[in-house]
Amino acid sequence: MSNFKQILVVGGAGYIGSHIVHDLCDAGYSVTIFDNLSTGLIENLDPRAEFFQGDILQLPDLQKAFSKPVDVVFHFAALKAAGESMLIPEKFSTNNITGTINLLNIMQAHAVKYIVFSSSAAVYGNPQYLPIDEKHPLQPINYYGYTKLVIEQVLDWYDRLKGLRYAALRYFNATGYDVKGRIRGKEKNPGNLSPIIMEVAAGTRPILQVFGDDYHTPDGTCIRDYIHVSDLAEAHLLAMNYLVEKEKSLIVNLGTGRGYSVLEMLETARKISGLPIPHTIGPRRPGDPPELYADCQLAAKLLQWKAKYSSVEQIIESMCHVYLG
Ligand SMILES: NC(=O)c1ccc[n+]([C@@H]2O[C@H](COP(=O)([O-])OP(=O)(O)OC[C@H]3O[C@@H](n4cnc5c(N)ncnc54)[C@H](O)[C@@H]3O)[C@@H](O)[C@H]2O)c1
Repeated sequence: MSNFKQILVVGGAGYIGSHIVHDLCDAGYSVTIFDNLSTGLIENLDPRAEFFQGDILQLPDLQKAFSKPVDVVFHFAALKAAGESMLIPEKFSTNNITGTINLLNIMQAHAVKYIVFSSSAAVYGNPQYLPIDEKHPLQPINYYGYTKLVIEQVLDWYDRLKGLRYAALRYFNATGYDVKGRIRGKEKNPGNLSPIIMEVAAGTRPILQVFGDDYHTPDGTCIRDYIHVSDLAEAHLLAMNYLVEKEKSLIVNLGTGRGYSVLEMLETARKISGLPIPHTIGPRRPGDPPELYADCQLAAKLLQWKAKYSSVEQIIESMCHVYLG
């Protein structure tokens, strides 16, 4: 553990943030969670962490959160529904971009130098080659991805002008639930494949709609790189240590380097749950590339990190504990 002890986790009641909070508390850090609970869940808060209900759009809330010492900020707070971002971009500009700039400015005012930021593979847009490495052109195809790219650029300027050190972690498809079984609160209105499969398995959603089975992939359905949230959690702690020890900013992909198709995920869920999980094939969804998976060699080299929990079986098993009890 580094000398830095006071961690502020913005968005720490959310799906990914709550997992990182548990690992930070396990590692002995003193953690404060800052979250407006718009999508976050009280039940996923680690009781060892202090909770402050606040909004990054409200400067008085941020001022209160920074009235106690902070060494490192983890920033998960964002809107993430790519489809909605194309319909109501202004909501995403405000929450994601303005909210992050508020956070960076208050960090400057309090001389807080380190931030670990949730970026996304959405910064790349349609793959021009596979696997996608960090040098791939940055051409987001939805406004959500654009907000992440803008924030990465602001981070880079603050690094050059103000000495901020940041880790921009470009997650591929975050999935699964805590391998230690501590997080039980399910995401509300999930947009990702695996929670939707599990909702159908649990009977809270009638059927899985598959968007196209005529892609040029082995079974015709889209292939994505699913990274277990417990693997993401490990990478976040390593990224924090990298920033503090090396005094250098960092941009890395976090994925597994291999993809699974929609039908592979579904078949594994059927096998592990023993449930039929009905599905129907619908038309392709505009803007869905057939295949997306990461080149993760840079994260392996810089952070000595590699996904350990992200086989399709481990992912589905961890979700069955939460969705099927
Ligand atoms: N889930 C994925 O597959 C994925 C992939 C790539 C990147 N990301 C990014 O990772 C981060 C976390 O995603 P998640 O899946 O945990 O989403 P989530 O919605 O579960 O978590 C976001 C958290 O931030 C809080 N929040 C949102 N706006 C806020 C505001 N204005 N002030 C204070 N708190 C606010 C929410 O209440 C929630 O607890 C996001 O930045 C997202 O864009 C997620």
